Amino acid sequence: MKIRTIDQMDLSGKRTLIRVDFNVPMDKAGNIADDTRVQAALPTIRLAVEKGAKTILLSHMGRPKGKRVPGMSLAPVAPRLASLLGKPVAFAGDCVGEEAAGAVAALRPGDVLLLENVRYHAEEEKNDEGFGARLAALCDVYVNDAFATAHRGHASNVAILRFVKERAAGLLMRNEIAYFEKALVSPARPLAAIFGGAKISGKIEAINNVLPKVDKILIGGAMANTFFAAQGYGIGKSLYEAEMVKTAGEVLAGAASRKVRLYLPVDVVVADRLEASAPTKTVTAQEIPEGAMALDIGPGSVMLFREAIQDAKTIVWNGPMGAFETPPFAAGTHAVMRALAESAAVTIVGGGDTDTALHKAGLFSRMSYVSTGGGAFLELLEGKRLPGIAALEED
Ligand code: 3PG
Repeated sequence: MKIRTIDQMDLSGKRTLIRVDFNVPMDKAGNIADDTRVQAALPTIRLAVEKGAKTILLSHMGRPKGKRVPGMSLAPVAPRLASLLGKPVAFAGDCVGEEAAGAVAALRPGDVLLLENVRYHAEEEKNDEGFGARLAALCDVYVNDAFATAHRGHASNVAILRFVKERAAGLLMRNEIAYFEKALVSPARPLAAIFGGAKISGKIEAINNVLPKVDKILIGGAMANTFFAAQGYGIGKSLYEAEMVKTAGEVLAGAASRKVRLYLPVDVVVADRLEASAPTKTVTAQEIPEGAMALDIGPGSVMLFREAIQDAKTIVWNGPMGAFETPPFAAGTHAVMRALAESAAVTIVGGGDTDTALHKAGLFSRMSYVSTGGGAFLELLEGKRLPGIAALEED
């Protein structure tokens, strides 16, 4: 099975529909708060324009559940994209029907059109065949560059492919797949994986899938508390998942039997509440006071983690080390980001929270690759075949 990429396609004068992921965060005033995903799609859009395509962009935004929710319109993305591209971007108020068909018919080679939120139609998330056919009728060539949506099997990335003649992956999609393979299929070793975030339950499949592939695994964030509980430590009022304690114990045993070095925090920053003004102190992982909650990894853990990844040639990171949105608990996450930024290893980062933290610290560009996918990246780590990628494969 192989996947063609947009650079191999003749797009001259062809109506080229590119499924992008412009599901960008908006602020309260309705402005784009972070345009990383729009920027990530630029190389593919520019290439389509250079090739003389009539470019049609299709995306979802938020979860409007088949209704026209005004705050989830893609209209604000068109002017932002136009300024990034340095050329006009037309906008159609629907992605199917007369308005969309008229806007597509008006395109000349080199023009760019953005269609309204595909999730305004309930058929999208149902992967409805008829809806896929209506979307396909708008184009001669279909390109999927929406890696961040690839774990969804929807009409705009699966059903549509039953009706298009030519298909290809975009450049972002190609890079996402290539970097993932570099990380977990044929990595330079030692390979270290760092997991953080609040819950083991959301990451356990990924942890179990990577365990046989990695040389080291580092665990921080609130999910470390569940591992502490599995080791019999008192964890005070810390967030943890009682029903996952047994699973955490199995991960520890699994790592030991595979001779994978598993690192847990040796100290943590605690407070009696998650508030910027709360007094904090650092304690060993074994001595979390009764009324306290662990909210970040401590300086000793930072030293240990830095040391552990020093010889790594590939590092995959998913999830923050603490409650980094609240200032006294951001130091651990920042220190790990800096360690990755200074490392000569191939560093591959995925997951919405981690990306935000990297942006805030100005270290985004110091990583080898930051995935645009949250859920999609995690499902790849879980070893799953993503429907949006599978649908692009040709014999
Ligand atoms: C994402 O932000 O992860 C993607 O755009 C998919 O969005 P969804 O989780 O609403 O399907």
